[in-house]
Amino acid sequence: MPHSSQAIDGVTEQQFGSIAGFIDSTLVADLRNRLLECHEQGLMKPAGIGKDSSYNQNHKVRGDEIFWLDKENHPVEKAFLERVESLISYLNQTCYTGLNGYEFHFARYKPGSFYRRHLDRFKTDSGRVFSLICYLNENWTPEDGGQLILHLPDQQVTVVPVGGQAVFFKSNEVEHEVVEAHRERLSIAGWLKRN
Ligand code: OGA
Ligand code: MN
Repeated sequence: MPHSSQAIDGVTEQQFGSIAGFIDSTLVADLRNRLLECHEQGLMKPAGIGKDSSYNQNHKVRGDEIFWLDKENHPVEKAFLERVESLISYLNQTCYTGLNGYEFHFARYKPGSFYRRHLDRFKTDSGRVFSLICYLNENWTPEDGGQLILHLPDQQVTVVPVGGQAVFFKSNEVEHEVVEAHRERLSIAGWLKRN
């Protein structure tokens, strides 16, 4: 699986990796349609922050709406989660990462929303080892905003949320933020876990 080894080299040598074709364009389109269907059915809920949801009142920290993926929900969610499982097997075989779980949600940022600088790993939950974000947007350009900025010790990396692209980094080390999106921004975000 060449895409995975590329990402692993990135994560070990520079704290993050990016995988240009983590999922193919058909699966990107199917996942995008599934996300929009969840939105239309009212299944997407405003995201909270850790265990204290009052902290995010008026969406001061993050403005996305989320829906957790489950293999039982829909075949396309199952297809994505199976892709994640094959990445986990690869990581465990090649890097002895001992990963034994995961959790992923769809995320929809309506125009004007953002996610301020943060770390993904809660103090009370040490299970999150790697963060993995996969974008579902069609024809995204830098003018659309919504970039992911990774704050690494010696540089900032800017990622444009182009459909099919995945980004991968250590959950407890890399602070990051999503700058304001000027159009609807669609993604899957989640964590590879070790409990
Ligand atoms: C997150 C997050 C980044 C992105 O959901 O925790 O940081 O690019 N997402 O969507
Ligand atoms: Mn995050």
